[in-house]
Amino acid sequence: MIGCGVISKQYLASFDVLPDVQLVAVADLDRSRAEAAVEGREGVRVLSVEELLVDPEVDTVLNLTIPAAHAEVDLKAIAAGKNVYSEKPFAVTTEEGAQVLAAAREAGVLVGSAPDTVLGTGTQTARTAIDQGVIGAPVAAMATMVTPGHERWHPQPDFYYVPGGGPLLDMGPYYIHALVTLLGPVSAVIGAGSRLRSERTIGSGPREGETIPVTTDTHVTGVLVHESGALSTLVMSFDAVASSAHPIEVHGTEGTLAVPDPNRFDGDVAVRRLSGADWETLPVTGGYREAGRGIGLQDMATRGEGLRASGELGQHVLEVMNAVLDSARSGHRVEIASTVERPEAVAAEGVPAQG
Ligand SMILES: NC(=O)c1ccc[n+]([C@@H]2O[C@H](COP(=O)([O-])OP(=O)(O)OC[C@H]3O[C@@H](n4cnc5c(N)ncnc54)[C@H](O)[C@@H]3O)[C@@H](O)[C@H]2O)c1
Repeated sequence: MIGCGVISKQYLASFDVLPDVQLVAVADLDRSRAEAAVEGREGVRVLSVEELLVDPEVDTVLNLTIPAAHAEVDLKAIAAGKNVYSEKPFAVTTEEGAQVLAAAREAGVLVGSAPDTVLGTGTQTARTAIDQGVIGAPVAAMATMVTPGHERWHPQPDFYYVPGGGPLLDMGPYYIHALVTLLGPVSAVIGAGSRLRSERTIGSGPREGETIPVTTDTHVTGVLVHESGALSTLVMSFDAVASSAHPIEVHGTEGTLAVPDPNRFDGDVAVRRLSGADWETLPVTGGYREAGRGIGLQDMATRGEGLRASGELGQHVLEVMNAVLDSARSGHRVEIASTVERPEAVAAEGVPAQG
């Protein structure tokens, strides 16, 4: 594991239950963070980044660094012959994401990408419902994520306000991975964005009160045209207090599906049928149960090239997000060059028991 910041704690909790993932070493630019992360954990070595990359015991590098470092760390790991699994976004620019995939193909190693939350029961139950025709033919979706900003709680929030961050590249992966899981790949986008404040104030930790610059859009909205013809409307904001909208709604000819927060693994899926008078909660019909961050790595360990949280999906979503920002800048619709197969559905199954 390279990068031992805030999110590493959630992965560390998963390592205790995932049967085919074993943590052998950790590294961070700031060695004290790596040491603190695995304090009291037997058998996990603290190494420098360079040592970890060439360590013979490491077959896969879990990249939990900040977005600006994702591609660089992935490329170094691939050059050392390791599989990689990166936190989202897959990279900052579409070009560097493509370089990672090309290098991995050349080296014959696997590439995985977060988010894996969409492999949980929430998004997967919604997918089963759509695949079974519960809402008829899918026509459109709406995805809404609004928050006043992560600088209120994250102690090192700089990366959220530079290219690679912003509400779209930070939170968009959850929503767009879910939309691709539900409705298939995207062929074109139209976007608009704004950034009304040029700085933000850190709200917690040792740097509380410090201001940081904003160099990316903080309210982004757009339309994703899926290859199927379905249209998704996206609202991603670090500039709004709250929303009462469902995180994702999918509209079909026979009904509307309310899909839970794709930044969570679970949550209820409800349907409002054309013939019905009220919302109906659906039973869980798909997804890894009681999953946590790291289930995508487990899926990669067991399925190899058939991994669901794949680099190809991460790269397609990265291209879509950057195209929304390009469209916002130019005022023009942008075609998407890449495509991706919907990952195989996850049948309703538990996290495999340890050992
Ligand atoms: N914080 C969250 O709630 C959250 C949730 C889901 C995903 N993520 C994603 O996880 C990633 C990390 O987020 P975080 O909140 O843990 O950030 P963080 O700033 O708390 O931690 C990142 C760590 O990576 C280290 N690092 C940076 N560049 C490095 C490099 N080149 N080599 C080695 N170490 C390096 C830093 O020293 C730091 O300890 C981001 O991509 C973020 O989008 C974060």
